[in-house]
Amino acid sequence: MKLIDAQHISHSYNGKDLVLDDICLTIRRGEFLSILGASGSGKTTLLSVLGGIERPTSGKVFVDGEDICAANESRRAVLRRTKIGFVFQFFNLAPYLTVEQNILVPILLGGKGKKSVAERLDKLLSVIGLEDRRNSLPGKLSGGEQQRVAIARGLICGPDAILLDEPTGNLDSVNSEGIMCLLGEINRRFGTTVIQVTHSEKNAGYGSRVLCISDGRITGDVSLRADGKDDVSEERLR
Ligand SMILES: Nc1ncnc2c1ncn2[C@@H]1O[C@H](COP(=O)(O)OP(=O)(O)OP(=O)(O)O)[C@@H](O)[C@H]1O
Ligand SMILES: [Mg+2]
Repeated sequence: MKLIDAQHISHSYNGKDLVLDDICLTIRRGEFLSILGASGSGKTTLLSVLGGIERPTSGKVFVDGEDICAANESRRAVLRRTKIGFVFQFFNLAPYLTVEQNILVPILLGGKGKKSVAERLDKLLSVIGLEDRRNSLPGKLSGGEQQRVAIARGLICGPDAILLDEPTGNLDSVNSEGIMCLLGEINRRFGTTVIQVTHSEKNAGYGSRVLCISDGRITGDVSLRADGKDDVSEERLR
């Protein structure tokens, strides 16, 4: 079942050079997709377009059947809160808010889900292994722990997908592996579609599918899950 359907996406920031060049891409519910490519190949731009942060110069993006390029800004903001969670390389946590308060920021901005927020918060704190640090400030946490908090924040509204831009770009190899395993667990346990951008072939190997991009074009698209099944979760966050 399609979750994101990008049709003939092209994008230019300056009106002439194409950063994305006629990309067609369908992402099914429950996939764990890694977007792999060299610096400047258009990975961040593609992620921003798929998640409705950036409007492409041409082409259409459907999220759960809805054309997000046609949606107005306020509708796009709602879609970003409810259907898609974002995680960035540099965590972007608020330094004066505790772990728990940081995770709840999207709720304060108006997001919600079906289950009670308190229940989801407890579940996410347990999944990221930081239940006993819920009242700590981010400055007291390691980089890997801070990224776990950012991931929980991206999941608090119970989105269909979580989009991550080089989530381990700022972490050492031990912490990177921990984050990749956490993403795998979230994907399997909650059925959340995971889309990550990475420079690392090793990190790309944790997912179910690898998309290679070069100069704004798709140059490879490989499925890594032998059974072809993606949506195998039993538990839902919503
Ligand atoms: N806001 C912007 N304004 C103008 N040009 C931009 C903007 N963002 C990106 N670009 C240009 O678009 C191209 C693709 O950039 P993008 O950030 O998507 O690449 P990337 O694959 O994510 O690179 P990296 O691995 O270094 O993060 C680059 O040439 C970049 O300079
Ligand atoms: Mg980038």
